[in-house]
Amino acid sequence: MGKDVIIACDFSDRATTLGFLDRFTERDIKPFVKIGMELFYAEGPEIVREIKARGLKIFLDLKLHDIPNTVKKAMAVLSRLDVDMCNLHAAGTARMMAAAIEGLTRPDGTRPILLAVTQLTSTDQEALEKELLIREPIANVVMSYAKNARDAGLDGVVCSPLEAGAVHEACGCGFLTVTPGVRFADSDAGDQKRIATPARAKELGSDYIVVGRPITAAEDPVAAYLRAVNDFCD
Ligand code: C5P
Repeated sequence: MGKDVIIACDFSDRATTLGFLDRFTERDIKPFVKIGMELFYAEGPEIVREIKARGLKIFLDLKLHDIPNTVKKAMAVLSRLDVDMCNLHAAGTARMMAAAIEGLTRPDGTRPILLAVTQLTSTDQEALEKELLIREPIANVVMSYAKNARDAGLDGVVCSPLEAGAVHEACGCGFLTVTPGVRFADSDAGDQKRIATPARAKELGSDYIVVGRPITAAEDPVAAYLRAVNDFCD
């Protein structure tokens, strides 16, 4: 599995998204893109079909979490949509994760890459203990959920580049680490806290980096994307 840069297309409508992607396809560049809840809920499955029709790979970031039967059926729909990567919350339990794989697997045995979210990066130790009643250091919880995901047959986790090494150590180097929180040395960190440059993410062993604003808000998004590819993939 090759290393790749995934552009987080955090736009709220079809016109802005396709206008942005036109800048790439006009130059015959076909980036891997991430579609999140905002765009998917605004535009529905048709936006996935339109982007796929342009020959781009899609990570559909919907973070499913429900009873196993519901997740299995929802995953079957995503699989028919032909997304390349999707995800769920590991907190849904091993039974939910196994059901997700069943739903996602096509009749010919192929399926999209399935990733787990362990703990959201917005959850801190205090919320973990006081609200979720989990009295463990958050790093242990992340690693334990990652192992649950691996044991359930998932392909990897979404995590910080700074956690990629520990995840590979605990779950094996073939277990994918897909890492947001990436910034160029000269770009604004914004609301991201635990960040790494594309080159540092590569050194730390990330398999895919997810880059949003450093590309989407750049004056020349194509140049920013190519810079990330150059620093991370080569
Ligand atoms: O603009 P930026 O590079 O910060 O975008 C990162 C993308 O990755 C956003 O779509 C964000 O929602 C997502 N993400 C994240 N941290 C996580 C999980 C997902 O930043 N832990």
